[in-house]
Amino acid sequence: MLAVLVKSALRSGWAKPCVRVRPAAHIPERTLAHQEGLPKLPVPPLKQTCERYLAALEPLVSREELDHTRALVEEFLRGGVGERLQRGLERRARKTDNWLSEWWMQAAYLDCRMPVAVYTSPGVVLPRMRFQDRQGQMRFAAKLIAGVLDFKSLIDRDALPVEHLSGKPLCMDQYHQILSSCRVPGPKRDTVVNHTLGKAPPTHITVVHNFQFFVLEVYGSDGAPLTVDQLQVQLEKIWNSSLQTNKEPVGILTSQHRNTWGKAYNHLIKDKTNKESVRSIQKSIFTVCLDAPMPRVSEDVYLSRVAAQILHGGGARWNSGNRWFDKTLQFIVGEDGTCGLVYEHAPAEGPPIVYLIDHVVKYMQRTETLPSPMIPLAMPQKLRFNITPEVKRDIEKAKQNMNMMVHDLDVKVLAFAHFGKNVPKQHEMSPDAFVQTALQLAYFRIYSSCCSTYESASLRMFRYGRTDVIRSTTTDSLNFIRGMEDPSRPNAERLALLQKTIQTHKDNTYDAIHGQAIDRHLLGLKMLSIEDLTSMPEIFMDTSFAVAQHYNLFTSQVGSRTDCVMCVGPMVPDGYGVCYNPMEEHVNIAITAFNSCEDTNAARFARAVEDALLDMRALLGGQ
Ligand code: COA
Repeated sequence: MLAVLVKSALRSGWAKPCVRVRPAAHIPERTLAHQEGLPKLPVPPLKQTCERYLAALEPLVSREELDHTRALVEEFLRGGVGERLQRGLERRARKTDNWLSEWWMQAAYLDCRMPVAVYTSPGVVLPRMRFQDRQGQMRFAAKLIAGVLDFKSLIDRDALPVEHLSGKPLCMDQYHQILSSCRVPGPKRDTVVNHTLGKAPPTHITVVHNFQFFVLEVYGSDGAPLTVDQLQVQLEKIWNSSLQTNKEPVGILTSQHRNTWGKAYNHLIKDKTNKESVRSIQKSIFTVCLDAPMPRVSEDVYLSRVAAQILHGGGARWNSGNRWFDKTLQFIVGEDGTCGLVYEHAPAEGPPIVYLIDHVVKYMQRTETLPSPMIPLAMPQKLRFNITPEVKRDIEKAKQNMNMMVHDLDVKVLAFAHFGKNVPKQHEMSPDAFVQTALQLAYFRIYSSCCSTYESASLRMFRYGRTDVIRSTTTDSLNFIRGMEDPSRPNAERLALLQKTIQTHKDNTYDAIHGQAIDRHLLGLKMLSIEDLTSMPEIFMDTSFAVAQHYNLFTSQVGSRTDCVMCVGPMVPDGYGVCYNPMEEHVNIAITAFNSCEDTNAARFARAVEDALLDMRALLGGQ
């Protein structure tokens, strides 16, 4: 959805961006010093971006369209408009810590009016847990909470090891944005409020069970985190005092279109008690959703069902009201063993989230238990909501909308078990490029054409860097596909085409993570032309530009040590969202589409991906 939304934000006009240096007060000293040592995001050379843009269009548009666009690009370069905008961007880059990050945060997230559930919030599916009983579930949730608090202490103590990519240190700012933060709906633009900034940082989490929210204080009077045993006792108290299943699912309001939720939010917080309850949720360090069991399904669709539950909660009848979708981090622990998390995307990308998960999973494997102090703990506070007729109407509308979203989302999780990163690596190929090439082949086999493809690339080598795009559809990938689909071509020739495609993808990845991709640069040039209130350069009004921005394949690799997989909704109504986690000997792949589009089908695409991966391995000489 991002590109569509960025475009609509751009079309709808743009308030003057505040070119401010980011406040760093909440960032501890060591991280701050590290941040300041990071390079600034460069503005790529204009001519380079224009040339790469034309090259990216080659496999996507007709020769006539490409000729037309080439003429527009020439005009953009020669007529002075491009140079003027480029100089503006370079000025902005000198004056700010990162010329892109604030624009990106607003255009991709905060101005986006679509619901965060399904459309922008990614989920992470963790392996199924087999709880023997309620105590088992509560113990698991308690350990999980303790693990997250342990991770928090690393952030608070400024002790998180700096991550690296391609040997370069990465920006660690996102770790300071994911806890104690929450999105807040606004009439036209949302905000994200980070409560670690306040004088008294929060010491509680929120727990939700049967649509009822509780404040759980997770630090004792001595400031130490509660032990696993203490947390378990507190969770059991919560469970026992929220057994009624007829409560209004007030949390479902957060799943609405943002304008609708913005209005409903004002209705809700008119009441003082409601306002205080909402504030407690927003301020909490994170949320734990103790979900009701979902209808049983067969093993082969279990992971797909869980992915859907993680993304939307399963509908108004099930767990969609057992969420506060604006909350940055929500861990889900279902009575039936469902396990995962959903996160609001504005403050961070997937890799820091799964890094946190890796830490928590490792923490949970520890066997030692700390002795618990004997002091009895107070009952966790239940958050009250007064449901006025107006709020009740809003909840009913939100339920209907959620049920439509649930019916529309098509999800398939493919646990590809034949091989993992090991096979491409043995053949000196990048596993990421290998999977991306398989996605290209799979798509072509279904649609007899290729499409614009978005693969997220990290810009965290730069201060406050977020992402850019690796465009996986290239002239080389199309040549490879044609080679694969032409029965007269020998395998040796196909292998050479595959190797070339993979090398091109690797080169494009290198460029993207080093700040030399084209998408964010083009976005910046377009933003500036809107700000300048001059007429929009024709290259941005061209059909080719629309084609290039219509990402039928919206993909991301989010690798982790834990056997999990991230999932996201598609970016466009007729597209697929594809996330994958290549493990050493298998690959977890989550595919989403919309049922309202007749042309897409997640399970069919998953089968095509599986075949493509196997056919590509056969080329390498594997079994
Ligand atoms: N021969 C042998 N091994 C190779 C190889 C080759 N030619 N090329 C790569 N490898 C190895 C790597 O050394 C690495 O080894 P490891 O498993 O021991 O670490 C492994 O294969 C993976 O490399 P590769 O598949 O090339 O991917 P990557 O780890 O470099 O990741 C991106 C590529 C694009 C995913 C990464 O750069 C990135 O940007 N990630 C962030 C994505 C993101 O932010 N998503 C947002 C989601 S919300």
